[in-house]
Amino acid sequence: MEQQGMTAPSNPRVLILYYSFSGQTTGLLHHLGLGLKNQGIDVTVEKVRPQDPPRFPVGAILPTLAMMVTTTLRQRLPIKEPDPAVWADYDLLILAGPTWSYNPSGPILDLIDRYGPRLFRNRQVLPLISCRGYWRLHWWGLRILLRRCGAQVTNRIIFSHPAPEPWRTIGVFLKIAGRAPERSRLIGRYYKRFGHSKEQLAEAELLGEMLGAALAKHQPLAELNLQSLIASP
Ligand SMILES: Cc1cc2nc3c(=O)[nH]c(=O)nc-3n(C[C@H](O)[C@H](O)[C@H](O)COP(=O)(O)O)c2cc1C
Repeated sequence: MEQQGMTAPSNPRVLILYYSFSGQTTGLLHHLGLGLKNQGIDVTVEKVRPQDPPRFPVGAILPTLAMMVTTTLRQRLPIKEPDPAVWADYDLLILAGPTWSYNPSGPILDLIDRYGPRLFRNRQVLPLISCRGYWRLHWWGLRILLRRCGAQVTNRIIFSHPAPEPWRTIGVFLKIAGRAPERSRLIGRYYKRFGHSKEQLAEAELLGEMLGAALAKHQPLAELNLQSLIASP
């Protein structure tokens, strides 16, 4: 029988708020979310939606070069108002997205500009970065922006593409431009696939389980080693 004045302890709640241009962050989050749910975590997933979403692939070399320039200048991509679900109470907010020219992507920069203090103040925030390999400036700048908004940034999850250089950089550029480098006779010898590997997706699920178990036990997240061991940054 339920006792008066007592409520059943609810499961820890996690909000995953993300932007993904070419699907890589989406894939990682799908698996991370499975791991969290396996540990009994309530997971809410919300997309950051640009008002005028850039199309992937961009489709040609020149507009791809132009995108590299505007992203280097940290151009904001204006977003739509977030779903009201983001304002609910959560034990953890995972803010996820790609690196764009050593920075957070345009939609995430706009999210922070417009809603940062309201969204992040006094919240525990765990950034997840999907990149081809060059994430340090992104991480450093993002942490400063989030802390300025009043967030507690206690850890990070970073996934780099496992392909070797210089093929990784050439491959990502050509893929964004709309080519299929993995099928090219020359580049395809060294560049087998764009983005994260199946092993990394499996690893994301394990990290989700680790994170979920820690949240369920109220263990501080700063103590966890959440780093990907594959293509270790
Ligand atoms: C405009 C643009 C700039 C990028 N700049 C970087 C970069 O500076 N460092 C890096 O490691 N990856 C960079 N990348 C690669 C992406 O971070 C990487 O492909 C990521 O996995 C994409 O995630 P998404 O599919 O969720 O958008 C860039 C991609 C784009 C589209």
